[in-house]
Formats: sequence, structure tokens, C-alpha cells
Amino acid sequence: MNTIDLRSDTVTHPTPAMREAMANALVGDDVYGDDPTVNELQAYAADLLGKEAALYMPTATMSNTAAALTHCRRGDEIILSKKAHMFVFEQSGAAQLGGVSMYPLDIRFDGTMSLSEIEGAIRGDDPHFPRTALICLENTVHGAGATPITAEYTQQVGEIARRRGLKLHLDGARLFNAAAALKVQPRELAAPADSVQICLSKGLCAPLGSLLVGSREFIARALRTRKVLGGGMRQAGIVAAAGLIALRDMRERLAEDHRTAAQLAEGLATIEGITVEPVHLRTNFVLFSIPPSVNVREFVEAMKARNVILRGGPRFRAVTHYWITPERVQYTIDAMREVLAQQMGQTAGVHQ
Ligand SMILES: Cc1ncc(COP(=O)(O)O)c(C=O)c1O
Repeated sequence: MNTIDLRSDTVTHPTPAMREAMANALVGDDVYGDDPTVNELQAYAADLLGKEAALYMPTATMSNTAAALTHCRRGDEIILSKKAHMFVFEQSGAAQLGGVSMYPLDIRFDGTMSLSEIEGAIRGDDPHFPRTALICLENTVHGAGATPITAEYTQQVGEIARRRGLKLHLDGARLFNAAAALKVQPRELAAPADSVQICLSKGLCAPLGSLLVGSREFIARALRTRKVLGGGMRQAGIVAAAGLIALRDMRERLAEDHRTAAQLAEGLATIEGITVEPVHLRTNFVLFSIPPSVNVREFVEAMKARNVILRGGPRFRAVTHYWITPERVQYTIDAMREVLAQQMGQTAGVHQ
């Protein structure tokens, strides 16, 4: 990758090792359960998260939607955060496709929802109300600057779910970032959840793919849901081969992305005009703003001319990943300092 693309960790290209594994992958028809590479990936993911079974999906969105549709019936309700990816950025898929309503709660700075608010959102047995069936958590918490949430908190929510006869789904699109930041095993974060979604195509660099993980019985039902959503793939071992490398070899290096994000946040904070937002515990996101006097389009274009791709504005989210080295971070900080100095100087000139 020649450009410094900070829009997301989804922009990561497969590594050379992944490309080689894809070229040589053993494949079969996965709708018949015949693809040995997909089967290996599913078994590996289930073991990694301490669950009985896993199902390979094309995207994290499909895994989350399939999980919700498998746990819930029409007329059920899901408790989740107002900023949950499943609520905000996935068209509330279970609501749209399955007649499942969503009860969104506030999240706090540390990415958690209040336990008493979760309890308070659980509906009573009354024909006026939908039936609460599922609680969804996210880890890391996208809407709180990708801060990780602890195994203890997840356990507390899991206890509420069990006591009240509900299921708990964990959107772990960046679960391995959380595990790296908290220095715990992924299975500890996954243990309280009935189902977990992990994504292979973000910081782990696979070209696509997600796994939905849970009990054997749940995954058997989720297989039917995946089929109706059009997610039954054929020789998917070609991409699953990259997924195996993602899970085996790429998890351990995620702490590097957290260091480059910290480096970026610290560097940007020294630039006049930039405000870096605090985050409870940093993983790989940096949220920052440029002054309202600076023209966003011109700023983004000037950075692009220097090979740095940004998304947003005047509030930006920069995400570090495999292709963002410490040298590239330093280059980005220097480029942004130069561009802002120029553009703020021009604005000052206009006002004089
Ligand atoms: C927390 C979270 N969940 C789910 C997704 C969905 O991933 P995809 O768009 O690859 O399906 C994303 C995407 O960025 C995400 O950040």
C-alpha cells in the first residue's frame, strides 16, 4: 500500500502470506460442508473463543444480523446501545428483516451501558410490549472511540441476561484489539456471551469474512439463517485460507496498532488548531477535529495530495492498522502540521 489510508482498518490489503495461502487453498463446496479450509477455520475460531462451533460468514454485518435473527422471533426486542454498529450502521437489520424491535440505551465514556438501565429496559410480561429476547454488546466499542470493555463488565451483563431468561450476543468486530489492549485471552471476553461475531477483514487484514461463534445447537440454527440471507458460499476456502492466517498470525501484532494510534494522538495534540478527543482506553482509533475556520474539503484534498487519506471532517476518525508504520505516522503528523499552518495562515490573512 503506497498511500497512508487512515479511513479505517477495513482498508487493509491481504498480506503476501495470505495471497500465497489463497493461491494454494484446498477447497470444496461449503454449502455441502465439503470445504476443508472453511471447516478448519470454523474449528479454529470456535476453539479460540472457547465455544462449541462457528460459522463462516462473508461479512460482520451478516453475522450480526444472522445472530439476531437466530436468537429472536418476530415481536421480540433487542437491548443495545444507541451507538451500536448493529443499530446505527447496519440498517437495524433484524428490525427490517425479522420484525425484531430495538431498545437503544446511552453509552458512557468507558463504552458501557448502565447495568440498571439494562435491567430497566427489560420488558414485563404484558401484551402491550414486545418480548425482550436479546442483549447486544460490542467490543471494542466503536461509538466510544473503539475503547475495550472488560470481561468483568461482560460477565455482569451476562448474569443479567441469564437471570432474566435472555440471550447475550457480542459484536466482536474488533474483539482481538480488546484482548490485546486488556491483555486477556479472547475467550475470557467471549465467555459470558451466547454468541460472538469476530471479523477477519479489519485489523487482521483478511480480504473479507467473519465468524459467528456459539453453541453447536445455535450454530445449526444460524446455518439456516445464513442460507436465507444468501450467505451460503461455495469454494469459500480460497478466502478462508487468508482468514486462518488472520486468526493465527495477525492477532498478536494488534498491540502495534495501538502504539501507532497513541503516537498519532500525541503528535496531533501538539499541532495548533487540532483537538484530539480523549478516549477511556485507546486501541486503534484517534478522533480529532480541525478548527471551524478551516475548509474541510481543502484540508482533505491537501492531505490527499500528500498521500494521506482521511475520512470525515471537521471531526475526523483516523484508524491505524498493519500498513501504518511509526514512520508513516510521523510523516502524517508533519504533513498535517504543514497543511494546517498554511490553511490557518490563509484564513487569518482573509480576516485581516
Ligand atoms: C463494531 C462493528 N461491527 C460490525 C461491523 C460491520 O462490518 P462489515 O461492514 O465489514 O460488515 C463494523 C464495521 O466497521 C464494526 O465496526
